[in-house]
Amino acid sequence: MTGRTERESGAGRGAGSGLSTSIEIDDVEVQLNGRRVLHDVSVRLDQRRIAVIGANGSGKSTFARLLNGLVAPSRGRVVVHGIDVARDRRAVRDRVGFVFTHPDAQILMPTVVEDVSLSLRGLGLSRAAIAERVSAVLGEYGLSGHADAPAYSLSGGQKQLLALAAVLVREPQLVVADEPTTLLDLGNARRISDLLVDRLAAQTIIVTHDLDLARRCEIALLFDAGRLTAVDEPGAVVERYRRQQA
Ligand SMILES: Nc1ncnc2c1ncn2[C@@H]1O[C@H](COP(=O)(O)OP(=O)(O)O)[C@@H](O)[C@H]1O
Ligand SMILES: [Mg+2]
Repeated sequence: MTGRTERESGAGRGAGSGLSTSIEIDDVEVQLNGRRVLHDVSVRLDQRRIAVIGANGSGKSTFARLLNGLVAPSRGRVVVHGIDVARDRRAVRDRVGFVFTHPDAQILMPTVVEDVSLSLRGLGLSRAAIAERVSAVLGEYGLSGHADAPAYSLSGGQKQLLALAAVLVREPQLVVADEPTTLLDLGNARRISDLLVDRLAAQTIIVTHDLDLARRCEIALLFDAGRLTAVDEPGAVVERYRRQQA
């Protein structure tokens, strides 16, 4: 699934903004190419900032991708803000914004301003309204000076800011970010982390190896070999992860 189809398929914001911000995962298993990569996952999440940690290959990305329908469960049910993901992927896509590790995977247009504008296509907004929203968002993300720059000319940190801006301009109720700071230097990682923790959507799920970032969330999930092995206050979950890795 490319970012392009995802961005253009949805009818956009306002999709049931009165719905709850509860995520319900009920006895989920995921098989990919005949391999069971997640199993026995059940959890209900009402917190606003949720961290997901665990070793490489433990199933974190698969879990993240369940939440916007990029991956389908082979068993069980995923309900995001009242929407059954298997039944109504379009409604879920409207509600959930996904931020990838590699910003190149989701920057689709030649220039910064065009890329953010693309996210607002198909919402019935006038050109002037789109221009106004895009300009405001670029200002907020420190990209105004690069509006007409080719996206490829941006630094890694600026590219991730652009990717985030293109997701956030649609005002998703849930943001799922899969290792959004892994490729960034300290300053840019901090900037993206601050945006995710302090400023963004009603609900945010951050998959990360940055344990300080995990500690800033309200709750943390630990995955180990395809199972969800802890759901608790982040400090306790980080300690458990450290012991597991020792
Ligand atoms: N398309 C796929 N087909 C088969 N196995 C996969 C596929 N995608 C991921 N996996 C396997 O599933 C496991 C969990 O992967 P992933 O969710 O990406 O873990 P993490 O994000 O924690 O590193 C890994 O062992 C990985 O190799
Ligand atoms: Mg991953």
